[in-house]
Amino acid sequence: MKGLILCAGKGSRLYPFTISYPKTLIPVANVPLLHGCIDKLTEQNISEIGIVIHPSQESIIKESLQKISHWNISITYIYQQKPEGIANALLQAKDFIGQDPFILLLGDNLISISLSKLKEQVELQGNDAALLLAEVENPQDYGIAEVVGEKIMTLEEKPKNPKSNLAVLGAYVFSSSIFKASEIIKPSARGEYEITDAIQWLIQNDYPVSFYKAEVSNIDVGTMDRWIGANRKMLQEMPYENYIHPSVVLKNTKIHPPVSIDHGSIIENAVIGPYVSIGEGSTVKDCVIEDSILLSHVHLNKLSHPISKMIIGSGSALVGTEEEGGGVE
Ligand code: G1P
Repeated sequence: MKGLILCAGKGSRLYPFTISYPKTLIPVANVPLLHGCIDKLTEQNISEIGIVIHPSQESIIKESLQKISHWNISITYIYQQKPEGIANALLQAKDFIGQDPFILLLGDNLISISLSKLKEQVELQGNDAALLLAEVENPQDYGIAEVVGEKIMTLEEKPKNPKSNLAVLGAYVFSSSIFKASEIIKPSARGEYEITDAIQWLIQNDYPVSFYKAEVSNIDVGTMDRWIGANRKMLQEMPYENYIHPSVVLKNTKIHPPVSIDHGSIIENAVIGPYVSIGEGSTVKDCVIEDSILLSHVHLNKLSHPISKMIIGSGSALVGTEEEGGGVE
């Protein structure tokens, strides 16, 4: 079985962070979403992975993946020239996938559960599609499933009046029938070939479509609030209290777990945590930070007010004055 990860979307709800940086590389607990997707596929013993990108993203995505040496995988880059939807992206990958079932992951989703149940539903039980469903608070932002008993009756993309709060999350297993469906459907009102419509076509034409309902939240890192929420959740779920890279310098600093501090950062006279991720090469002096994400090479110095529920972009510098002070009292 092969894996396919879609990364070509614009990520406009996370502007300005994603203007020149692919959404799929934004970090949660210092791990880029795309790296998390690859881990999910390798967990299922998948070693042939296609990544659908816009050509402009190729060098930055390749550079990010080259940093990881423990994966034993082959990656094929597939291009989607225009952001015309998930079903359109799938069609670009038709030759790469071939005839066998495959796992599709949306590169901007944070998948925290195992994909083995979904895989079984297609590979062993012969369904043509297996969907990951979860209850969400904002069903208008997702593809929504109407389920009766064990059967999905309808799927609707971002409905104004949702029939349920069961959202289709960004992990799917498909047989090659999805290509036929993707070729037949018409673009939606937002001008995209929706994966929801392609799956609805399968349902209407009596192809078996199953689902697995997961107890998860904050899986779509589509907005600033959800990004901070996802960061909190991933830090909470780390198998250790804190992740602090051995190269990090900590001087006169209180750490409230959980936090993640990436390599080369220097933290001095500060209070950090809980729920703080600090990206590589950052410097934090005389500051109090909780529930926030600092991307890489951020410089904070002498801030009089605590930083809380903030995302600070790569290369930003925030500097207070001598009088304002900050940090550990
Ligand atoms: C896409 C899909 C939607 C799905 C969502 C999950 O929406 O179209 O069906 O529920 O991903 O994240 P997008 O957020 O890309 O508009």
